[in-house]
Amino acid sequence: MLVAIASVLHLTAANSPNTAPNGRHLVSFPSELAPPDQEYPAVVIIRVLNGPNLNLLGRREPAQYGQRSLQEIMQELGQFAQSCGVELDHMQTNSEGEMVDAIQQAGTDEVDYIIINPAGYTHTSVAMRDALLAVEIPFVEVHLSAVSSREPFRQITYFSDIAIGVISGFRGEGYLLALQAILNRIEP
Ligand code: DQA
Repeated sequence: MLVAIASVLHLTAANSPNTAPNGRHLVSFPSELAPPDQEYPAVVIIRVLNGPNLNLLGRREPAQYGQRSLQEIMQELGQFAQSCGVELDHMQTNSEGEMVDAIQQAGTDEVDYIIINPAGYTHTSVAMRDALLAVEIPFVEVHLSAVSSREPFRQITYFSDIAIGVISGFRGEGYLLALQAILNRIEP
């Protein structure tokens, strides 16, 4: 089931400057992510697809995947999309077949960009890779954990070589970075 994101979260806590242990000044997410100055000429549709077990975020191995729930991460992302004037929806499924269907549906819906965390299917799914190749929708691959420095089987991905780019290791903030990267590619 696709969920259109309309709710607005207040991000003021994350907007305040921080100081790093070495005394250097840091500005935390998402204040460094900037909405565009101008509106985009056409409606831009971005679909976020989240794979198996990501519905357990917050409870599942928090040292790897962070403390925040998928709902919190998607609400924050939706608010950023809204402030940028782009349409964004998301779905999560534990099933490979539903993922393939969702990718095909994105083609039918003329989605402009996909942000995808294939989760465990990253390392196994020829079928999802083939679906992404079939619909020819540019996509960004996101992983909450730093997959390239984990077990050897996680260092193999069936998606990276056909993605616009890969964002890995920034927990839930990776989705914001993916959206920013997509927006940077669109001519206002
Ligand atoms: C993951 C990494 C995968 O290896 C793992 O199976 C996941 C989540 C990540 O976001 O870090 O379920 O995609």
